[in-house]
Amino acid sequence: MGVCKFLGFLWVVVMLSIQQYPAFGSSRLTSDVGVVMNPPRLGICASAVTKYGYKCQEIDVTTEDGYILSIQRIPEGRGGGGVGGGRRKRQPVLLQHGVLVDGMTWLLNSPEQSLALILADHGYDVWIANTRGTSFSRRHVSLDPDKPEFWNWTWDEIAARDLPAVIAYIFQQTSQKIHYVGHSLGTLIALASFSERKQIDKVKSAALLSPIAYLSHMTTALGVVAAKVFVGEITIVFGLAEFYPKGEEVSRFLKGLCADPKVDCYDLMSAITGKNCCLNGSTVDAFLRSEPQSTSTKNMVHLAQTVRDGILAKYDYGNPVFNLEHYGVPRPPIYNISNIPKDFPLFMSYGGQDALSDPKDVATLLDDLKWHDEGKLSVQYIKDYAHADFIMGVTAKDVIYDKIISFFTRNQ
Ligand SMILES: *[C@@H]1O[C@H](CO)[C@@H](O)[C@H](O)[C@H]1NC(C)=O
Ligand SMILES: *[C@@H]1O[C@H](CO)[C@@H](O)[C@H](O)[C@H]1NC(C)=O
Ligand SMILES: *[C@@H]1O[C@H](CO)[C@@H](O)[C@H](O)[C@H]1NC(C)=O
Repeated sequence: MGVCKFLGFLWVVVMLSIQQYPAFGSSRLTSDVGVVMNPPRLGICASAVTKYGYKCQEIDVTTEDGYILSIQRIPEGRGGGGVGGGRRKRQPVLLQHGVLVDGMTWLLNSPEQSLALILADHGYDVWIANTRGTSFSRRHVSLDPDKPEFWNWTWDEIAARDLPAVIAYIFQQTSQKIHYVGHSLGTLIALASFSERKQIDKVKSAALLSPIAYLSHMTTALGVVAAKVFVGEITIVFGLAEFYPKGEEVSRFLKGLCADPKVDCYDLMSAITGKNCCLNGSTVDAFLRSEPQSTSTKNMVHLAQTVRDGILAKYDYGNPVFNLEHYGVPRPPIYNISNIPKDFPLFMSYGGQDALSDPKDVATLLDDLKWHDEGKLSVQYIKDYAHADFIMGVTAKDVIYDKIISFFTRNQ
């Protein structure tokens, strides 16, 4: 299936399935499914960064629509080091996670294997975003996260509100254009913004891992069924409020889905993300301690619409009258990827085993970029990689991260 296609949903399933099926290599117990677990109490800096000897700041940024986002800044490498430290101004890099997870996902492997810390050790000023609704960004100036009004948004708002707020803050603090790294939904919101020519003035280049824009090529029966079910039933099942992947409703919903003879839930992780080649069992356990995280049900519906419709468009209110009311036109406006400025430096890395960012959907995305200036678009294809390998793979440093650093160096 498409990348993100449903990756949000996917993650949910993945997480649950990992817990449910020890075959994946996790020591988690079946009985965890549906049990509500508390998010870690320590902030991201304290739980995953400072313990390795890096400086790290917790910062709050408020969006135009009142969401208070937690972001982390790792200003330099271990012991103040990092190639380029001192010699020139450190360049800011923003890491943007995918759906149903948060910024912790950049920090689960050892410092030598985690992109955020590798970048810091290479002299970058590293910033980690956590989008609205995730456990450290579950705050608003007036809305209560336990009420449905708090969850009235989709990735349209993540692109239109969260991303600009975080980028503006970094830009203001550093007086420099920013390098961007997105994974999965983090690529979608960047592509959507850039296609409207937004943020381009403050972003120097973008590295997109498991890029997601089209989600039509579901390669798994599970994806197809889930997306169909999702659009049709989800609001009835969940209401338009919080989508809490560890909650009971989601668990029940998945059990129903797995009862479908077309869906093989035995190896759900593979069925959803594709077969990851290179994950470390301890990292997966760490992942499960902090993820998955909540998103809005409306966001899941929007993703399912993307799968269903095969185009990248704003949230569909379901009928022309409501769409007219919101957009002034009867159909949701599309994000036209071909409108991304042709000289904007892009690096894309996608995997042959990625069930979310399916190579066929990536091909559609690349076709939209076929007029991009030569030399401004670098594309990497990794045959063995699936969705999670890009952020947690033990080989990712050698395979991808070194290339990202060269890409940034070429475009500084
Ligand atoms: C959700 O937001 C839309 C505008 O984006 C607004 O029209 C609608 O009334 C809101 N719904 C709720 C339940 O707050
Ligand atoms: C997997 O993670 C454990 C615990 O962090 C670590 O000791 C081990 O070296 C890792 N294995 C690989 C192949 O990176
Ligand atoms: C998208 O933009 C390109 C280039 O600006 C244009 O040629 C194309 O017609 C647009 N596609 C749609 C569906 O609007």
